[in-house]
Amino acid sequence: MAHFEKANSINEWLDQRIGINTIKRVMQTEYWIPKNINFLWAMGMVLAATFGLLLVSGIFLLMYYQPNTELAFDSVNYTIMTEVGYGWLWRHIHGVGASVVFLVIYIHMFTGIYYGSYKRGRELIWISGMLLFVLFSAEAFSGYMLPWGQMSYWAGMVITNLFSGGSLHADGLVEWIRGDYVPGQAFLGRFFMLHVLLMPLAIIGAIVFHFGTLRIPHVNNQDGEEIDFEESARLWKEGKRAESKVIPFSPVFLSKDVFVMGVYFILFFYLVFYHFEFAMDPVNFDPANGLKTPTHIYPEWYFLWSYEILRPFPTDPGLVAFGIAQVIFFLLPFLDRSPNVAPASRRGLFNFWFWALLIDMIVLTFMGKLPPEGIWSTIGLVAAITFFVLWIALPIITKLEKKL
Ligand code: HEM
Repeated sequence: MAHFEKANSINEWLDQRIGINTIKRVMQTEYWIPKNINFLWAMGMVLAATFGLLLVSGIFLLMYYQPNTELAFDSVNYTIMTEVGYGWLWRHIHGVGASVVFLVIYIHMFTGIYYGSYKRGRELIWISGMLLFVLFSAEAFSGYMLPWGQMSYWAGMVITNLFSGGSLHADGLVEWIRGDYVPGQAFLGRFFMLHVLLMPLAIIGAIVFHFGTLRIPHVNNQDGEEIDFEESARLWKEGKRAESKVIPFSPVFLSKDVFVMGVYFILFFYLVFYHFEFAMDPVNFDPANGLKTPTHIYPEWYFLWSYEILRPFPTDPGLVAFGIAQVIFFLLPFLDRSPNVAPASRRGLFNFWFWALLIDMIVLTFMGKLPPEGIWSTIGLVAAITFFVLWIALPIITKLEKKL
């Protein structure tokens, strides 16, 4: 037991038990980040920090929330908002966090697409990222059910109806998922369990996996340059820092991350205190009523693009289109046939593809919020078809791309 001799400091005590000095050494001298990256590479840590804030605020909300169809609405809108000290603050943080986290996820995803960070060697980083996207979507959707307002109820109804299988008539599946013919106590209970336990656990596991996938290929850089990390790390350690192409994760890169996070959290708390209403749908301030369908049912902004892919088509093709839209991004590393790892601006037609996809998804998002009538439904249909045309075109245009 010589290993566990009397320790002279907390650090030494921890080092004997969990090897804290090894962790520090790895982060300071063995985990390298390219120099040539911009603030967009801080989005991953911004996401991790926002998830942390969602967990903490969620724990406070959980102390007063009642997962019961008779009590849920009042426990949120009355008890937490007006009776519990600072309950409103935790709710605003949680609501704003849930919305903003998707904005950052989309920025993080499109940064990866723009710089080709999903290509050879980095496929698993991308796939684990997409897994996180799906899990965050499930987490957001299940959370949206909990206040048991009109939009919770009717969005729950519409989304679970998707499992009716169209003309395949998956009889009983929708009822099995809901635990009843319509959303009720069983439905709220299971979505509550998913939101506070199963999904957060799965997300934590997926984040660990995502970080693990970054270790060997290392993060990409602004030019897609293939860096010899060992050589650059050696130069850094020898003090030739100007010649080295990398910096240690801690404290050098971390200090940059912390700076970007500081700016982000100033904006975040500005929204929490002054503009939280953007993250809360006014219709959801009416209690759930199974006898009164809202005139217009739509999901939160981050699901609108995929909702608009479902809506313009008849039931069966709509369901297939929706299903494909959910998984197509997973396939990106395999559909992009070009060997070039470079920013889109240097990749000819791919640059056009990138901006067309981004604009198309923004158009789909706007159309998803508007009623499906007249010119809006035509624009929605064209944008939905464009989405698929773009994905079909991807392997072709990338195959034709010249090697840089
Ligand atoms: C939602 C939780 C997520 C967290 C906490 C997270 C965290 C991180 C972190 C810390 C990094 C390294 C630094 C950086 O490039 O920002 C990273 C890189 C990366 N992430 Fe995520 N990520 C998340 C979701 C996603 C999603 C949804 C995708 C896309 C499908 C994704 C794809 C990537 C890619 C491709 C990289 C590598 C970037 C490069 O090599 O330059 N991540 N992530």
